[in-house]
Amino acid sequence: MPQAGYPATRLRRNRRADWSRRLVRETTLTPDDLIWPIFVIEGTGERSAIAAMPGVDRLSIDLAVKAAEHAATLGLPAIALFPNTDSALRDEAASQAVNPGNLVCRAVRAIKAEVPDIGIICDVALDPYTSHGHDGLLVDGEIDNDKTIEVLIAQALVQAEAGCDILAPSDMMDGRIGAIRAALEENGFTQTQILSYAAKYASAFYGPFRDAVGSGQQLHGDKKTYQMDPANGDEALREVALDVAEGADMVMVKPGLAYLDIVWRVKEAFKLPTFVYQTSGEYAMLAAASERGWLDRERVILESLMACKRAGADAIFTYFASEVAKRLKDAR
Ligand code: PBG
Repeated sequence: MPQAGYPATRLRRNRRADWSRRLVRETTLTPDDLIWPIFVIEGTGERSAIAAMPGVDRLSIDLAVKAAEHAATLGLPAIALFPNTDSALRDEAASQAVNPGNLVCRAVRAIKAEVPDIGIICDVALDPYTSHGHDGLLVDGEIDNDKTIEVLIAQALVQAEAGCDILAPSDMMDGRIGAIRAALEENGFTQTQILSYAAKYASAFYGPFRDAVGSGQQLHGDKKTYQMDPANGDEALREVALDVAEGADMVMVKPGLAYLDIVWRVKEAFKLPTFVYQTSGEYAMLAAASERGWLDRERVILESLMACKRAGADAIFTYFASEVAKRLKDAR
C-alpha cells in the first residue's frame, strides 16, 4: 500500500523518458495522413504569392507538375488542385466549369502523365467559374439547387475524363452526390471515387482561400443558404448519412480545428474514411503568429495535425503537407 498522502497511481512514470512516451503514444502522424492542396494558374514558370497565406504560392501547370513530383517523393498519397480562373472567363453560367480544356483539367492531365502514382483530388463546385463567386447558379437571387446539380454533373464528368481520381463535391447542394455517382456509373467511370464535403460550414476561415482562387472579391453576399450553420452538430450527421446513402466513398468535415467535435461524432457514428480540412484561415493564423515569433511554428503545426487525427480523422487536407512530410521523413 502506498504511504498515506502519496498517489497510488503515478501517470508521470510513463511520461518520464522519451522512449517511454514513444512507447505509449496513442496517435501517430505520417505523410500517408496528409493531402496537399495546390493552387493553379495559367502560364509557364509562373508563381504568384497569396497575401494571407505566406509561404503558399499559386503555380502554373509546369510548376504544379514539379510540386506533384516533390509530393510523391515525400510519400504524400494525394494532392488537391484548385484553379484560379481568369476573371474574364467567369460568367453567370459557370461555363468554364464544363470545358474539358479548362485550367484544372489541363493540370490533371499534365500531372497524371508525369506523376501517375499520386492521387489527384478535384473540387466539384462552381465558385472558381461564376462571376458572382457562388458555388451554384443564381436564379432570381437564389442559389438554384437542381439547376446547379446539372452543371455539377457535367463538371464531374469532364474532370473524371481528364483523369481525376477523387471528385470532391464541395458545393453543399442537396442530392448532388447521388446524381454525380449515377452519372459516373452511366459513363463508365465506375472507379472514380467521391469524397463528399458532407459537413461543410459557412465559415469565416475560408477568407484566404477565396483570395487564392480569386473568387473572394467577386462574392456577392454569403454562402449561408447552402453551407452549414456553425451552431449545428446533429445536422452534420444528417448530411453525412445522406451523402453516404447516395454513394460517397469518403466524407469530409470542414473547417478543422474549430470543428473537431464534428469529426469525432462523424467517425463514431459512421466508421467511414473521414477527412478534415485544415483551411486557409487556420493556415493563416498559425503562419502569421509564427512569423511574429508568437508561436513555435514546427510544434504548433504538428500539434494541430495530431489533434485532427486524435479526433478521428483518417487524412487531413493541409497547406503544411509538404513541409510536415519532409520533417517527418528527415526525423526517421
Ligand atoms: C469552394 C471551396 C472553398 C474551400 C474549398 N473549396 C471555399 C468556399 O467554400 O468558399 C475552402 C478551403 C480553404 O479555406 O482552405 N467551394
